[in-house]
Amino acid sequence: MMKGKKILIGVTGSIAAYKSVLIVRLLVKEEAEVKVIMTPSSKDFVSPLTFSTLSKNKVLTELVSEDSWANHVELGRWADIFLIAPATCNTLAKMANGFCDNLLLAVYLSSTCPVMVAPAMDEDMWRHPATKLNLQKITSFGNTILPVDNGELASGLTGEGRMSEPAFIVEKIKDFFFKPEICKGLNVLITAGPTVEAIDPVRFISNHSSGKMGVAIAEEFRKRGASVTLILGPSGESVNHGIEIRRVTSAKEMYQEAISRYQQADIIIMAAAVADYTPAEISGMKIKKDNEEMKLNLKKTDDILKTIGGLKKDSQLLVGFALETDNEKENALKKLNGKKADFIILNSLKDEGSGFGQDTNKITIFDKKGGEAAFEKKSKSEVAIDIVNSIIEYKNA
Ligand code: CTP
Repeated sequence: MMKGKKILIGVTGSIAAYKSVLIVRLLVKEEAEVKVIMTPSSKDFVSPLTFSTLSKNKVLTELVSEDSWANHVELGRWADIFLIAPATCNTLAKMANGFCDNLLLAVYLSSTCPVMVAPAMDEDMWRHPATKLNLQKITSFGNTILPVDNGELASGLTGEGRMSEPAFIVEKIKDFFFKPEICKGLNVLITAGPTVEAIDPVRFISNHSSGKMGVAIAEEFRKRGASVTLILGPSGESVNHGIEIRRVTSAKEMYQEAISRYQQADIIIMAAAVADYTPAEISGMKIKKDNEEMKLNLKKTDDILKTIGGLKKDSQLLVGFALETDNEKENALKKLNGKKADFIILNSLKDEGSGFGQDTNKITIFDKKGGEAAFEKKSKSEVAIDIVNSIIEYKNA
């Protein structure tokens, strides 16, 4: 089932390292190609010889050994997926903060493939706020953290923190490989974030969009194997390696990028909060506060969603967003029809936990065929899963 899949396994210094021996065995049995890298301290728990015998590949532990240098970039590019199991508290802290003091971390920092992490530690360490923060950071970098088990721990105590069982981890790896096939070959174009409209060299008009929702959708499509291009306005969100990012500032730049790229896309998602108006003229000099009042002349920006709605082929699926405060459904349907979109994703500012800057969202999806689906409030990454599932279902119907 896993024939030809290239799996890199990183082992760190935990008693759970013995379970990684079983992971390698299970994967090799499924005909996957497995390579193992180990941190120096993991060798206290399992010998490299065990892993090299099972994987039939040399095990690397050092960035430099004798007269040779391990090419960490090559390893990261070789792999289809990089599993770090077990991941100790120490390695998680280093991953969260970009440390690079061993081969495993160098490979992690330079890998372009999806990274899956199976933590293993004592319950108190697992529950510590520093660990929680590190896990949040690692997740926000686009990596997948597997759950820990509850049970007997190396300390002799019983509780949370045991590494997941090898069979469970292998199932998760299979999900990674076989879910992506759904979107393989699809080109997805996404706009996200705010736009910034200059008034003069110092001031600008913008909005509170964080770009979180669009980035989460981009990452979900990428996880499923699509080629994703993200046109991103000024946003502090970090975006995973495998996504092509086109950074823009103004509505005009976003329009130009989107128009030059939409023809190659199978799915076009306009999640950006594009300024509807921009200063009619940008002052070359800083405007002085000489007058009691000041009038700013604004002109309408080009509506990217509407323009693409009028130009796109029937085979291309176009998705827009509507952020409303009142008459939500009516306004959403007006946008669906007026902008010739296939989907409008509505979020209402009336719903607690919806909208700009939040980590959660509550959406209703309206489609061109009259469909309406309301979802519970969820984290933006879970909302992204619902959105991608709905788009794929609609496309395949
Ligand atoms: N949009 C766009 N280009 C613009 C403006 C909006 O592509 N210049 C897209 C957004 O990315 C989003 C949808 O259109 O998908 C939002 O519709 P819009 O009518 O702009 O919403 P509002 O700005 O809220 O408009 P209104 O004030 O009329 O409700």
